[in-house]
Amino acid sequence: MNWTNAIEQTIRTTTANISRFKDKFPHVSSGDGKYRLVDQTDWTEGFWAGILWLSYEYSQDPVIRDAAVQSVASFSKRLERESHLEHHDIGFLYSLSAKAQWILEQDESARETALRAADILMKRWRSGPQLIQAWGPEGDPHNGGRIIIDCLMNLPLLYWAAEQTGDPTYADTARIHAEKSRRFLVRGDDSSYHTFYFDQETGDSLRGGTHQGFRDGSTWTRGQAWGIYGFALAYRYFREPQFLETSKRLARYFIDHLPDDHVAYWDFDAPQAEGTPRDSSASAITACGLLELIEHLPAGDPEREFFLAAVHRSMNSLIENYFTAGDEAEEGFLRHGSYSVRGGVSPDDFVIWGDYFFLEALLRLESRIPGYWYERHENMG
Ligand code: GLY
Repeated sequence: MNWTNAIEQTIRTTTANISRFKDKFPHVSSGDGKYRLVDQTDWTEGFWAGILWLSYEYSQDPVIRDAAVQSVASFSKRLERESHLEHHDIGFLYSLSAKAQWILEQDESARETALRAADILMKRWRSGPQLIQAWGPEGDPHNGGRIIIDCLMNLPLLYWAAEQTGDPTYADTARIHAEKSRRFLVRGDDSSYHTFYFDQETGDSLRGGTHQGFRDGSTWTRGQAWGIYGFALAYRYFREPQFLETSKRLARYFIDHLPDDHVAYWDFDAPQAEGTPRDSSASAITACGLLELIEHLPAGDPEREFFLAAVHRSMNSLIENYFTAGDEAEEGFLRHGSYSVRGGVSPDDFVIWGDYFFLEALLRLESRIPGYWYERHENMG
């Protein structure tokens, strides 16, 4: 199946899902082909909005646009209610919903919503240890002073807010956080910690750890994927070479540690045996991250071909072995995503962010539609 056919199959599934989900949001599933639906209470709702905007941008179908616009209204209400906003994933939620609508349609109210969301994310800045705290209130005994690699993908909301408002504070904050993530989350052998702890008062570095990985020192594959894409986007904004180099280092490690079918297991250090879960979402995120990274490599750079070949191998395997391919009974695109293997939450099934990044990768490959992480005032490439 080629990229175009795959995109068309995802749009068939999405069209069916609009009627099935109504005003709810898909989260993860557990083996029955159906998504568990949530109502603006989690970190994942933006991915459904993002799928709707991508599908609309590609198809220009007004029914899909209506659903996307309705979803943005629900993100705006979430801000008004101040509901479930006390975490760093504000960037995932609002980049792919309100910011997407602004990027596509220059809708002023969507812009205001996304800017208000950026202000909420800024409230997680802790001036003592100089970082964006992932979870929990200031002073929290366990999560105070804790950063996670996933947050690299929330920073683009701050880069965008800096551009939109002319206020450099958003970008300065994001830059300090990205640099701290680079220094402490990425290890010398190009693997990564999922999370890192700092002293809340002094900012002294304490230790690496994990939240969803196999063990504290392991490399959780989705974390590595967030880093590949997140550092490439940091480079797009700041143009500082160390961010590009870090994205490349994480990418080489990811590619070098893939199994024969080119789709990652859930943790690079988990023992591999019959039945060890994959995380197809990590490979979909990495495909997008590599396509972003390639855009920043000069034309003659030999690694362009290396990274592009890796994208093609993984995407072909996802399409052949993991994709539901428009099967009417299935609500997801990609099987064998893993939310939290150790936590027993959707350890081997659909996860909505896997579907989002699978579609974003297909559209980057086929139509040069890059998702909604940044404004499109620069030509791609
Ligand atoms: N950002 C949460 C996760 O990747 O599961």
